Amino acid sequence: MKKVFVEDVLGMGEGSEVELLGWVRSRRVHGGLVFIDLRDSTGVLQVAVKRGVVDDESFERAREVGREAAVKVRGVVRKDPRAPGGVELQCRSLEVVGDSLDEFPIRKGVGVRFLFDHRHLHLRSPKVTAIMRVRARLVESARRWLREQGFTEIHCPTFITAAVEGGATLFKLDYFGKTAYLTQSVQFYQEAAIYSLEKVYSLQPSFRAEMSRTRRHLTEFWHLEAEMAYAELEDLMEVVENLVHAMVRGVHEGCQRELRVLGVELDPSMAEPPYPRIKYSEALQILSNKGVEVSWGDDFGADEERVLSKEFEKPFFVTHYPKEAKAFYHMLDPEDPSVCRNTDLLAPGGYGEIVGGGQRIHDYHQLLKRIEEEGLDPKDYEWYLDLRKYGSVPHSGFGLGIERTIWWLLKLPHIRHAALFPRTPARLYP
Ligand code: 4AD
Ligand code: MG
Repeated sequence: MKKVFVEDVLGMGEGSEVELLGWVRSRRVHGGLVFIDLRDSTGVLQVAVKRGVVDDESFERAREVGREAAVKVRGVVRKDPRAPGGVELQCRSLEVVGDSLDEFPIRKGVGVRFLFDHRHLHLRSPKVTAIMRVRARLVESARRWLREQGFTEIHCPTFITAAVEGGATLFKLDYFGKTAYLTQSVQFYQEAAIYSLEKVYSLQPSFRAEMSRTRRHLTEFWHLEAEMAYAELEDLMEVVENLVHAMVRGVHEGCQRELRVLGVELDPSMAEPPYPRIKYSEALQILSNKGVEVSWGDDFGADEERVLSKEFEKPFFVTHYPKEAKAFYHMLDPEDPSVCRNTDLLAPGGYGEIVGGGQRIHDYHQLLKRIEEEGLDPKDYEWYLDLRKYGSVPHSGFGLGIERTIWWLLKLPHIRHAALFPRTPARLYP
């Protein structure tokens, strides 16, 4: 008999004989009748095991089997409006492939902390499964779109020697007696690669030693970054809005079942370009009207971004931040050198920043000056400066946080739900 999946059974006609391999999500015993909710990677199916219809051994196994035990079930498909999904499997035989040795620890009513302490088992829940499917689809959609636009995927190192995004959030480690760090961003390597490949992207983990216990910070996150030669800030924003739209569309098209499981309504038109573009100074004004005062020069934190992004229905770009608020590599605006030609993309509805990027300084002397102004050692950035010595061109790039984006799209209570095994200041296990 051919092995089928739950998803296939839901579309099958009455009377089909099938074999399923899965896990016991739950079991209810009513005298001579046992109902098992059988779970596999595609869904949950009710299996009715009736004394007399199955052999006695199968019936005893069904009566005794533990939650989350692995089982092989043969049976006949029956339409039954009372069953979830309208279909039930009438069991003919049941074998235990791998029993549960103890009571499965995850039960209704256990707290979030307990769930994340048992994340290795929590992953079996239909909701977590759905989130991971959405994540895969989101990433696939991004890769496809970038490839179609002529970007080449590159892979960059994780061990580095100097900060990209400021020294405060570097994880330091011992590298055979030398000091090394875990990367915060592969941007500088991408900047080196554009001189041959012109348009590149990477998808790999970035690390931030941030003690911030917010709903949007991880210490390790997946970073989708891209860099383009001969591209200015305006070109960059067009790429970002079209990419985000493609990602949202991809999830909408490919994850209807998952979105249903999660109870999420995703309307791709809310991510349709063009996105509003406002300057930092305008953002300050909006915040001030809402009673939130930010002094010129400060970057926005989670609180400010929450207030600001509640004012928008679509993702929106905030551009031209004061240079004090952002990293040294941002190009300064020739018309007002107190601000950078940078942009953050903020997700609406209180979620805030999901993308950070902008146009880079491509002039050697200006870059050297900014490095010195920031009190950094030009020696640490020698190879990065070198890139400005040989055929330097205007160029721009960005980084998008994968977990941040999922957090926003699925309206998750905390970013950690978007990661298989999240890493936060308080969580390094499992
Ligand atoms: O704004 P960030 O720090 O920008 C950079 O790292 C640039 N070098 C990227 C580039 O231009 N190539 O980070 C980019 C994005 C943020 O917008 C956010 O989505 C995500 O990375 N991010 C985090 N996600 C989860 N936890 C954290 N601690 C994050 N820090 C940044
Ligand atoms: Mg940022």
